[in-house]
Amino acid sequence: MPDLKTLQAQIMAAIAAAEAAQDEAALEAVRVTLLGKKGLIAARLAGLGTMPPDERKEHGVAANLDKEKATEVVAARHAVLKEAALEARLKAEIADVTLPVRSHGIEAGRIHPVSQVMDELAVIFADMGFAIAEGPDIETDDYNFTKLNFPPDHPARDMHDTFFFNPGADGARKVLRTHTSPVQVRTMLTQKPPIRVICPGRTYRCDSDQTHTPMFHQVEGLVIDRSAHLGHLKWILEESCKAFFEVPDVKMRFRPSYFPFTEPSMEVDIQCSCKGGEMRFGEGKDWLEILGCGMVHPNVLRNCGLDPGIYQGFAWGMGIDRIAMLKYGMPDLRAFFEADIRWLNHYGFRPLDIPSLIGGLSER
Ligand code: DAH
Repeated sequence: MPDLKTLQAQIMAAIAAAEAAQDEAALEAVRVTLLGKKGLIAARLAGLGTMPPDERKEHGVAANLDKEKATEVVAARHAVLKEAALEARLKAEIADVTLPVRSHGIEAGRIHPVSQVMDELAVIFADMGFAIAEGPDIETDDYNFTKLNFPPDHPARDMHDTFFFNPGADGARKVLRTHTSPVQVRTMLTQKPPIRVICPGRTYRCDSDQTHTPMFHQVEGLVIDRSAHLGHLKWILEESCKAFFEVPDVKMRFRPSYFPFTEPSMEVDIQCSCKGGEMRFGEGKDWLEILGCGMVHPNVLRNCGLDPGIYQGFAWGMGIDRIAMLKYGMPDLRAFFEADIRWLNHYGFRPLDIPSLIGGLSER
């Protein structure tokens, strides 16, 4: 063990080192040297045991003063260094409040125009007292064709470029529904008139160009009661189109047509301009076919368990993608299904801006 003088000098030097320590690690090293179990102060106190009693008294007081001083110095320096370290950290971690805030997932995401248009239609028709009905994408041949008055092997079945599944065990082949009209069948089979439903959903046909994709969307409308007639149909179509396009007037053209499930049948065109490949609504000399409609054929009513002597009604089927293109000026239908994030950012809708008749259908 070093002699008392040396020990004393070492203690003083260590206290000075503690006072001068530049960081917490250096201070901790000095603390261990000074105040650790085998440190200088411990040595100094241990030395007292070998002294004669009167010397011990005198050195004991001095040793304890040293211990107190060492403890105080270390604690004070520790407080200073801790404060400085915090200061340095705050400086390093400085937050630039002028940086743009990264938006929350729900604000960054966009609603696809097709979903938006479906929501808009739901709002418009709910206001007219229509409920929403749904059916499966994989449909039986019976519901997609037969119950809708397509005779077996009738060329009208080919009209639809149907995707057929391989025949099942019972020999019947299912189809990817070619239109939303089978949901009419499902509704009439399960509900009692009066019926007022719209049926939005996916439909499939083997077809692809600027205005056709193999998967597309339709919304079917069906009204059945004892006296529903073409005048009602025309009014509903005109009013819903005005509401949808958010204009006071829409130019529509009703042309005679043929569908197996309606009699009489009509196709409806809407005025637009198709200049330069881009369709614009409410201007120009062109017409775009947007829907088929008519009075529900008595055979269809009968096939669905309704007595055509009592009930009558009308139906229509409209291409959702087409009216979305028209309303929002989107030139190519195929882009709808390419999942290009830039397209979606441009044409998509903010998720929290839910369409309503009061708040506006299509605020962006
Ligand atoms: N299902 C027809 C189609 O996809 C559209 C249609 C026409 C639906 C007349 C109807 C209707 O409900 O009455 O071509």
